[in-house]
Parts: sequence; structure tokens; C-alpha cells
Amino acid sequence: MISLETKISDKTFSNCIMNASGVRCMTLEDLSNLSSSAAGTWITKSCTLSPREGNPSPRYVDLKLGSINSMGLPNLGFDFYLDYVLEQHKSGNDAIFFSVAGLTLEDNLQMLTRIQNSDFQGLVELNLSCPNIPGKPQTGYDFERTHEVLNEIFSFYTKPLGVKLPPYFDMVHFEMMSEILNQYPIRFVTCINSVGNALYIEDESVVIKPKGGFGGIGGAYVKPTALANVRMFYKLLRKDITVIGCGGVETGRDVFEHILCGASMVQTGTLLMKEDTGVFSRLITELKEIMNLKGYKTLEDFKGKLIEL
Ligand code: SIN
Repeated sequence: MISLETKISDKTFSNCIMNASGVRCMTLEDLSNLSSSAAGTWITKSCTLSPREGNPSPRYVDLKLGSINSMGLPNLGFDFYLDYVLEQHKSGNDAIFFSVAGLTLEDNLQMLTRIQNSDFQGLVELNLSCPNIPGKPQTGYDFERTHEVLNEIFSFYTKPLGVKLPPYFDMVHFEMMSEILNQYPIRFVTCINSVGNALYIEDESVVIKPKGGFGGIGGAYVKPTALANVRMFYKLLRKDITVIGCGGVETGRDVFEHILCGASMVQTGTLLMKEDTGVFSRLITELKEIMNLKGYKTLEDFKGKLIEL
């Protein structure tokens, strides 16, 4: 019997594949489709304190090798998602992720205080990496600010929390961010968010409306960068900080590679957008086939064991 069981913080999941926040997880209908899919768990759309319409359309476009988006955090507001996770808690499910992306530190502190004081026992993924809000930099690229934000949060927050990071491209930046994260009781990191502020052109035009066509890239384009981030954070973070991989997952082989680099859970965004929730059972089957061929019975048999020459 092959098992895809995995653990993050104090939660155990029957398999290691889930949605990336932002994709098919905004409305109650989206969330119930995820809950009845084969995914090991699911995460809510990154929420802000108040509901948001997001950026003008077109703001998401499928590309041959991935996608470009500048959604601008459209979401139904913190209260909606808090109610949702509390309903899940009442029905006995705390093994889910609640994504929070306050537009200011004060908003994040307000939302996390309410989560801290609620019955929610699941995992919070704090999004430090949305590239699509005009005038708001990605916190994850500002090391000093990230330090300040985590300092404030962990002065009162005691429930399991992880951070969603932007992609890094420099060894020194991996080291600097790891040094900061290692100082806090963070339970997991999710890497990567989209490769922000890219341009895609068709004929003589950009393809999305916000920000003059600049948007975050996902899908096959970003897989090597995603794997590099998973690998470096797996090596540099404290061993009790779990890595969730995200970026470029189209097949079970891609999931396998994320785990080989050190991921304990793997998220899919662009693929889920393109193919809907049926992707989970396909990825599970394909991953199990690879494990079967290689004689692996559990994720621990190969997690982090990438061969280096
Ligand atoms: C968005 O809503 O703009 C995408 C969210 C993200 O990239 O964090």
C-alpha cells in the first residue's frame, strides 16, 4: 500500500496535494467543490479585512506555459472566511488553511487577533507576497519589514501560522529570509507565490488590463524557480518548519520533484484554474505510479532526498 499521508504542524492530511490560495477558493461554492474533491486539504482565498472587488478585468489569462494574473485580491472579506472556517470547525474539520493578506500591518493584526480569540484550530497562511496591489510592495521582499511584521504578530499570536513567500533569486536573500524566519515559531512556509510583475505580449498588446499589463506568472514557466525556493528553504530553515511547495505543477512528476526538494505538501494553482478539481485525483494517481515504480511506500522515503552531484 502506498501512502501519501503528510503532516504540517499538529495536523495530519491523507494526501499531500491541495489548491494554491487564490484559485477556485473564493466563494462558498468553490470551497465546497474543493472539500468534495480528492485534495488532501484546501485553503481559502487570501482575504482582506473588508471585501474587495479586485482589479479590473481582464485580470487572469491562461498562457501556453502557464498563466498571468493581476487579480488584486478580490475576496468576500475576513468575516466571510472566518465564518466558513468556524463552520468547518463545528463539523469537526480543523485540518484546513485560512489565508490572510491584510493590506496593512494593522489589518493583519486585527484579523489575527480575531482568529486567536476564535475557536479556529486550523492553520493560517499569512500572505506576504501578493504582487498585484498598486502602491503596495510585497512584504516578503522587504526583509526589515518582514521582521517587524513577525515581531508584532508573534507578540500575541500562539496558533499555528505559516507564511507565503515570493520567489527569491539570490543565495544571500534565501539566507537573509531564513535567518529571520528561524527566529519565530513559524510552522510552515509556502513557496512560491507567482513570479511578480512580468509582461506577456500578444501581437502588439499586453493581455491583462491592470498595471499596464504587468502581472504574476504561474505554471510551467516558474517550476525551476519554485523548486529552487523549496530546496533552499528546506535546507536553511529549522527542521520543525515544514515547506509547502507551489509552482509549475502539471503532473505527478512535478509533485514528486517538489517533494524530492523537501516539500511536505504541494499546492496547485494554474493547473487547477485550467482543469478544475478533477486534477487532484489525476495527480494522486500519477504520483503513486512513480512511487510504485521506485519502490517508495511513503513520502518520507524520498522527501528532501534530491541527489546532489
Ligand atoms: C491576487 O489576488 O492578486 C493574487 C494573490 C497573490 O498573488 O497573492
